[in-house]
Amino acid sequence: MASPQPLNGATPKPKPITPSEISAEFSHHDPTIARINNGSFGCCPSTIIAAQQNHQLYFLEQPDNFYFNILKPSILKTRQIIKTLINADHVEEISIVDNATTAAAIVLQHTTWSFFSTLFQPGDAAIMLHYAYGAVKKSVQAYITRAGGHVIEVHLPFPLKSNSEIIVEFRKALQMGKANGRKIRLAVIDHITSMPSVIIPVKELVQMCRDEGVGRIFIDAAHAIGNVNIDVKDIGADFYTSNLHKWFFCPPSAAFLYCKMSDELSDLHHPVVSHEYGNGLAMESAWIGTRDYSPQLVVPEAMEFVSRFEGGIEGIMRRNHKKVVEMADMLAEAWGTELGTPPDMCSSMAMVGMPACLGIKSDADALKLRTHLRVCFGVEVPIYYRAPVEGEIDPITGYARISHQVYNTVEDYYRFREAVNKLVKDGVNCTLLPLCEGYAQLLQMLLKSSLPVLCISYCSAVDV
Ligand SMILES: Cc1ncc(COP(=O)(O)O)c(C=O)c1O
Repeated sequence: MASPQPLNGATPKPKPITPSEISAEFSHHDPTIARINNGSFGCCPSTIIAAQQNHQLYFLEQPDNFYFNILKPSILKTRQIIKTLINADHVEEISIVDNATTAAAIVLQHTTWSFFSTLFQPGDAAIMLHYAYGAVKKSVQAYITRAGGHVIEVHLPFPLKSNSEIIVEFRKALQMGKANGRKIRLAVIDHITSMPSVIIPVKELVQMCRDEGVGRIFIDAAHAIGNVNIDVKDIGADFYTSNLHKWFFCPPSAAFLYCKMSDELSDLHHPVVSHEYGNGLAMESAWIGTRDYSPQLVVPEAMEFVSRFEGGIEGIMRRNHKKVVEMADMLAEAWGTELGTPPDMCSSMAMVGMPACLGIKSDADALKLRTHLRVCFGVEVPIYYRAPVEGEIDPITGYARISHQVYNTVEDYYRFREAVNKLVKDGVNCTLLPLCEGYAQLLQMLLKSSLPVLCISYCSAVDV
């Protein structure tokens, strides 16, 4: 039945999406898994998958027409939407790339050339957080260290109580870095670190870098769009990237790279060189050879999807944040632990301390526990190992990074709580868990085979 027309003739406000419609949108998710790890790979609702398939078919139907008439205007539409969402000044400042890893390569390659062109000298430095994402750290090594640059890592404490701890450590590292006359040419700063997950006060750190004469500032905000508000003008960095496939419902993979309008913009290039080389980064990025561009074209449909929720993307972010903090508090209370940061430093992800008796003593232990939770309890959640500080009594050495996205229900977190409670009750700790190599595959094979009983007894065997 059609919605009744308002008497004043205004367009009726569509009803917000219902819980059952949300379930239908994510019915392709494995129903056996409590998926509380949106942070790693995001999610894509079925209406957007359908839109993506339309683009793919459109290309296959008449590729030449798609290439000559459709692709560029469609990517431009995506760039225009992003420009508005992040408060950029010009659409030329926005390029669409595959992912944050590619965006980092673009920015870091540009810095390498400054070393080669003698604009920068050997020994000039780049500064980044110790908690920078592993692939981005390796890019810094590959592009900056190899070009003769020096890398300064800012160590941050964890758990954290306030932004000021981050600001103090960053200032200390900047000043120590400059103490012997070294020039700091580039800062790579996360907006939301991945592991442990913390919102970083980027605006303050950017200002500090400007005050200290750091030439270029790149914000790795892989987790930001759809998770926290973004205003690139207010943040004031030169470069800012965010994945669209993590928290903005796009399929893998798509990201934007914002490059502030400047003379340097014309010197930025995509590492994959195509016919578009020299036509500006946005154009170079819009054609990196024949491939599937469909994930980059569904941003209008992503906008339509989020508009079905009360308050649109802002409403989604607000509720995800509130819910993840509520769930983190519930888990911490059940396990007698604490959150890794205060709520205002959590986005739609939160770090929850895990019971010390689980004996998480290394990164390998954290991975073993994660695998065990997946295979034996159907819980997908990343675990962070935090080395104890000297003199700490009974420290929390393991934190779970929980996420909340629109498809999550409270049962997902209850399942996680009960799984950990059972491990604790059964006296299981990480030394009793098998090495990950082959373990997950073996159990998954058993689950698919006609030997479920054997699988169950294997799980219980490692439980005791
Ligand atoms: C902070 C951060 N930077 C960069 C990346 C890389 O993202 P992608 O693998 O999509 O390139 C991630 C991925 O999780 C991340 O968390």
